[in-house]
Parts: sequence; C-alpha cells; structure tokens
Amino acid sequence: MRFVGFGKEKLMDLFTDQQPTVQQIVKDAYLLKSFALRNQTQLLADLTQLLEASPLRNMVTPGGFSMSVAMSNCGELGWVSDRKGYRYATHDPLTDKPWPAMPNSFRTLAQQSASAVGYENFHPDACLINQYKVGARMSLHQDKNELDFNQPIVSVSLGLPAIFQFGGFERADKTVSLLLEHGDVVVWGGESRLRFHGILPVKAGQNTALNCRINLTFRRAGK
Ligand code: SIN
Ligand code: FE2
Repeated sequence: MRFVGFGKEKLMDLFTDQQPTVQQIVKDAYLLKSFALRNQTQLLADLTQLLEASPLRNMVTPGGFSMSVAMSNCGELGWVSDRKGYRYATHDPLTDKPWPAMPNSFRTLAQQSASAVGYENFHPDACLINQYKVGARMSLHQDKNELDFNQPIVSVSLGLPAIFQFGGFERADKTVSLLLEHGDVVVWGGESRLRFHGILPVKAGQNTALNCRINLTFRRAGK
C-alpha cells in the first residue's frame, strides 16, 4: 500500500494500491486512472442517499426498447429518454420532483478531474448516473443533447470493470478499447467532445464493493 496523501480524509480513503496517473487517449481526451479512489467513501454515501430520492430505472428509447442500463440523475438538469426522444429535464418524470442536488463530493471530483487535464472552468449542471448490472451495455453514441459543446465531459467509473470504446466522429470509425476500473475517470472535450463512445457488456467480477458498475457522467447541459 502506498500513501496517496491528498489531505485529511478518512484513513481508508488515503491508503490504496493505486496511484493516480493521467494518460492521454487522443487529442483532448484523457484517462485519469484511480482519480476517484481518494473520496470513494463519501461518493458512495452521497450516491446511496440521492438514489433514495430519485431511484434507478430502465428508460425506454424513442424506438420503444428498454435500455439495459438503469439510470438516474442529479443536478439542475437530468438526461431522460422516452418515446418522445432524448432530452434534458429539470424534473424527474418518476417522482415529478426536481432531480436531487448535485452533492459537493460529486461536483468537486468532476471539477478537479477536468482541471487536472486543462479544463479549468467546468461547471457541470447535470450528472447522469448509469448502473450496469452484469450483461448491461451501452452502444456507441455521441453526447450531443447539450447546448454548449465547449464544456468537456467527465465520466467516473465505480464498481465492476468494463471496456470503454472510444471512437471517431462517425459510428463506423475505428475505436480504441480502454479498461475502466473502479475509481477511473475519463475526461474528453475540445476536438474530441463529439467522439462516439460506448461500453461493452459488463462481465461478472470479484473483489469489488459493488456487484455492478456505476458510471457518473458530468456535463454542462444548459447555458
Ligand atoms: C455514457 O456515455 O453515458 C456512459 C459511459 C460509461 O458508462 O462509461
Ligand atoms: Fe455518453
């Protein structure tokens, strides 16, 4: 075990086998290994609490298919899908209430991750929470329901590992495959903001506190 040493967090968050490192994937896209480990206890506690207010649910695509990934949101805006299309909404359609506020632990991690790779002024107003049970997947897509593509995307992985596919600007373009493990963060923006990306079916795994994969995707969706 090595000392990571960020501050006065709980002891269990300070000791980890993994040192945070930054790897460039392509221009304007980065893999920040182990960046979310430091504050994982708080992140998971905040996640549990907000999912009580806005539970995970399998949304329906405009084509009428139930998504294998279960979703919820926090922040001022939440991404939703139904027969009418994909969009951002201020209220949770399940509860008719505003989405839960974005916890400080979430916002801080998103902003620190963005600024670690040069995106200094990231102000996320939306956090999509994706839960992948074993077998769940997300096909290649672009994130383009946001108003301002100048802000990056910050994507945090917790729980079971998964293979992230990062492609080009056409669905058929060649992809690179990256292993995303518990605590990893991917940040993409600038010239890479509209790259296709997706997740291969999640496999069963061991030795994780979560028996699923959780992804937190932070975006600036409104103006
Ligand atoms: C997404 O693109 O919304 C999710 C990506 C991931 O689960 O890593
Ligand atoms: Fe996405």
